[in-house]
Parts: sequence; C-alpha cells; structure tokens
Amino acid sequence: MDQKQIAVVGGGTMGAGIAQVFAQSGYRVDLVDLNEEILKRSIGRIEKSVRKLAEKGVLDPSKVDAVLSSVRPVPSVGKMAPSALVVEAVPEHFELKKKIFQELDAAAPKESILASNTSSISITEIAAATKRPEKVIGMHFMNPVPLMKLVEVIRGIATADETYERVEALTKELGKTPVEVQDYPGFVSNRILMPMINEAIYALMEGVASAEDIDTVMKLGMNHPMGPLTLADFIGLDVCLDIMEVLYSGFSDPKYRPCPLLKKMVRAGYLGRKSGRGFFEYGS
Ligand code: CAA
Repeated sequence: MDQKQIAVVGGGTMGAGIAQVFAQSGYRVDLVDLNEEILKRSIGRIEKSVRKLAEKGVLDPSKVDAVLSSVRPVPSVGKMAPSALVVEAVPEHFELKKKIFQELDAAAPKESILASNTSSISITEIAAATKRPEKVIGMHFMNPVPLMKLVEVIRGIATADETYERVEALTKELGKTPVEVQDYPGFVSNRILMPMINEAIYALMEGVASAEDIDTVMKLGMNHPMGPLTLADFIGLDVCLDIMEVLYSGFSDPKYRPCPLLKKMVRAGYLGRKSGRGFFEYGS
C-alpha cells in the first residue's frame, strides 16, 4: 500500500486543518465528507491558511500549488483511495463515530491504521466497534491545527505497540510533538483545560468579575494567549459542554459538573464564534 496516501473523514475546522498539515508534509490526502458545501468550505479554508503560511515564510511559496493539489475532496468513505492511515474528525457523538469506524473497518485495507481526533470519547470503545482494535488509536490535534505543535497520541486498551510507534513517527514527520496518553476521560488536555474553562464560567455566573476581566486575569496574570472565555468561544460552547459531560459521567465525580450558565448558553444557541455570539459578540 502507498504509505504516502492518507484520508481524513470530516471536513470541519479540525478535519481541514489535519488534511492541510499532512499535505504540507508531502502526503496525498483524501478529505471525505458527505456534505458538498462543507467540503467546498474546507478546501477554501485550507487554501487561505496555506497562503497565509507562505506569506509569513513558514511554508515555501513555490510549494503552495503542490500542497493544494494534493488534497482531494471525496464524497464518501466508499470512494476513498486505499490509505495507510485514516483520521476521523467528525462531531463528538459516540454513535456517529461508531458508525463511521464500522464503515472504515469495512472499506479500508486491513493493514490501515484508523485514528480518531476525538477530544474526549474513549478510544477503547471506538476500537471495540471494529474488527481491528489493535490498529485503532487516538490522534488528538489542537485548534488551529496548522499552528499548534501538540498531538496527544492515545492508546486504547488494545492498541498495538507497532500502531503507537507508527503514529508517533508520523506525528513527528508533521513537525508536531506527540505525547503518549492512556485512554481515560478527557485524556490530559481536556481533563485540565475544560475544568478551567468551566470554572471561569462559574466565576462569571456568580458575578465574581466581568467576562472581559476574567479573561484579562488569565491573559496578563498567567500569560495565556487567550482568556478562558474567549478560548471557550473559539472551541465552541457546545463542544465544551459535550466534553464536560464526558468528564462528569466518565469519572462519576461532581467536581466535573458542567456550569448551568454553560448549559443555558448552549440551549440558547450561543455557541461562540461559529454562531456569532458566545461570552463575547462576533461580527457576521
Ligand atoms: N492558518 C494559518 N495562519 C493562521 C491560522 C491558521 N489556521 N490561524 C491564525 N493564523 C495566523 C493569523 O492570521 C495571524 O497572522 P498575522 O500575524 O499575519 O496577523 C497569526 O496567525 C496570529 O494570529 P492572531 O493575531 O489572530 O492571534 P494570536 O497571536 O493570538 O494567535 C493563536 C492565534 C495561535 C490561535 C493563539 O491565540 C493561541 O495559541 N490561542 C490558544 C489556542 C488554544 O488553546 N488551542 C487549543 C484549543 S483546545 C483544542 O483544540 C482541543 C480540544 O479538544 C477542545
């Protein structure tokens, strides 16, 4: 099998970013999504980001066209080329991921590694939906993928050492730093990040300080590039709530209970940047 052919399933922000970083490292990438509009938007997003990186000298400008032409939009899992690695990056709902992994298990060559970019769902449980749990692994990229250096590489209970080592090497090839993580709710990143964001929302709900001031404390006091409420808007409040629910039920521990204000905002459709309103307002 061609080791330079990979596929990414899911054309949202994360899927587009993952496809882009593989293309920048010389891979041919099939970007799979059922929705043609989403695929068109992802290709546009990749183009904008690649051009920006070339402008800033991060990427050799003579390589822009080659990078862009190596990402192929594909309308279904059944139509993707045989791929050494498939990275799933669809929304954070277990039933959806399970269905996609079953489809991938049937469609991909049996030596292909199947990775999930899940931010908190159990890799062990996803792997159990397939007949190749030893080849299933977590590859958790951070947003914005082209800029962020970290990838959490998550071992499910059955992930083979060979699978882990291959994915660790691939991550380094992308110029990113892999961190080995065992499969527990929220892994490392979201087990620490989300309770901090949730606590910032409690502080806002209790009137401890304004949203702007809570963010200022963390930006100027702790040198975080974004305050926790701006970061929550950037990630998406629905995603933050989903992750808190995974932590809460996964540990059965009340310290992870999602803040009622977070729930209320998600119910109102105030999802952050993507909906134009979250803790802050964004232009159209
Ligand atoms: N591709 C290329 N360039 C990009 C880009 C992208 N996707 N996104 C931003 N840039 C560029 C901007 O255009 C800008 O360029 P100029 O300097 O020419 O204007 C440059 O990067 C810097 O961006 P900004 O000026 O907008 O802002 P910044 O200096 O604050 O940097 C940031 C942006 C890197 C996102 C920084 O704010 C940051 O690190 N924020 C925290 C991000 C973070 O915590 N991510 C993890 C989220 S959690 C997660 O992803 C996992 C999960 O499971 C929820």
